[in-house]
Amino acid sequence: MPLIAPSLLSANFLRLEEDVDMINRSEADWLHLDVMDGRFVPNISFGLPVIAAVNRKATKTLDVHLMIVEPEKYISDFAKAGAHYLSVHIEACNHLHRTVQMIHGEGMKAGVAINPHTPVHLLKDIIADIDLVCMMSVNPGFGGQKFIPHTLKKIAELRALINETGSKALIEIDGGVTLENAGTIVAAGADVLVAGNTVFSASDPVAMISQLKAI
Ligand code: DX5
Ligand code: ZN
Repeated sequence: MPLIAPSLLSANFLRLEEDVDMINRSEADWLHLDVMDGRFVPNISFGLPVIAAVNRKATKTLDVHLMIVEPEKYISDFAKAGAHYLSVHIEACNHLHRTVQMIHGEGMKAGVAINPHTPVHLLKDIIADIDLVCMMSVNPGFGGQKFIPHTLKKIAELRALINETGSKALIEIDGGVTLENAGTIVAAGADVLVAGNTVFSASDPVAMISQLKAI
């Protein structure tokens, strides 16, 4: 059974508390939080105060996805805000190993996110040290985009790398996950499915989360 991580980016920000409550009541495993800085990605979302507020209400694991430059500057801030998993982009880190150590040093699980054009083999010398790979299946920056089919090959490649290295990293797929493609994505080797638009545009989001969970 995949872990399901609804993405709050697609929630109604005017009634965030109700949406967090909905996720609490659902079979979701994690709550995915997308932080964008308008520099690493061409969009700006929300940041530390919103995550700290969500943390006061949420009962699920907070999975924070940083789409920001220089993420190493804010690691202890995100720990204080309540992040359980903290993912940084490989494309944004010159000293990725040090950044991963810093994340662990703050008591969080460390994730590395990779863009659609970034080859899986670049993870070879970090995979044994991390807890999660957030594999982007759309170009980061916006919810509601279409899944890039080439991701399926990358999932299989990553699964092979994880097996070879004895890594415990989970494979998370982020972007364009729908009820239609979720089965194929899980069959390819994914452990965690992020779903923004699919959950929040559903007439019954709790039921949609259960359907994704049952894939
Ligand atoms: C995109 C974000 C995703 C986004 C997914 O940059 O990283 O987490 O919320 O949204 P959907 O599921 O709508 O593609
Ligand atoms: Zn994300």
